[in-house]
Amino acid sequence: MNRLAKLQDMLIKYITEEVETKNNRAYPLSWEIVHIASAPQFARLLAEKRGVDPELAAIATAVHDFGRIVTGVQENHAEAGYEPVKKWLAETGLFSEEEIETIALACKNHSSKEEVGTPLEEIVKDSDIIDCYLHGHVISKDAHRKRLAKVKKELNLPEEQNL
Ligand SMILES: [Fe+2]
Repeated sequence: MNRLAKLQDMLIKYITEEVETKNNRAYPLSWEIVHIASAPQFARLLAEKRGVDPELAAIATAVHDFGRIVTGVQENHAEAGYEPVKKWLAETGLFSEEEIETIALACKNHSSKEEVGTPLEEIVKDSDIIDCYLHGHVISKDAHRKRLAKVKKELNLPEEQNL
């Protein structure tokens, strides 16, 4: 098992065993699990293409919604995830302090889709949008639509496609 697979295993166990199931969550935990599994694969591909560390990009993408996972709340979930994800990543024993900070910062900044961050942060944002798009989420915010169009162009995909 590579570190991504180990992390996904630990994160899904954490969700199923320790996160409270509430009816009023912004997104059901089943979606969080699907997103944890699929978004990192886009991150890995984009990272390989862009010359970014694919493992770290995939791992940051796997945990980017940690704030929403622990609180169930969408508003400010990126910022809310910063401290909890650092603590949880340290507990996994899989990462150096430097890696934890890099990953946690990507989580904290991933909702700023209109801003351009570090190459790793950009991959987290782009993979988030692609994964939501491919699962049929309506991509309505202007910054999100622009980002989706940019990535589709980068991947030589047609602009419009009904999923
Ligand atoms: Fe998010």
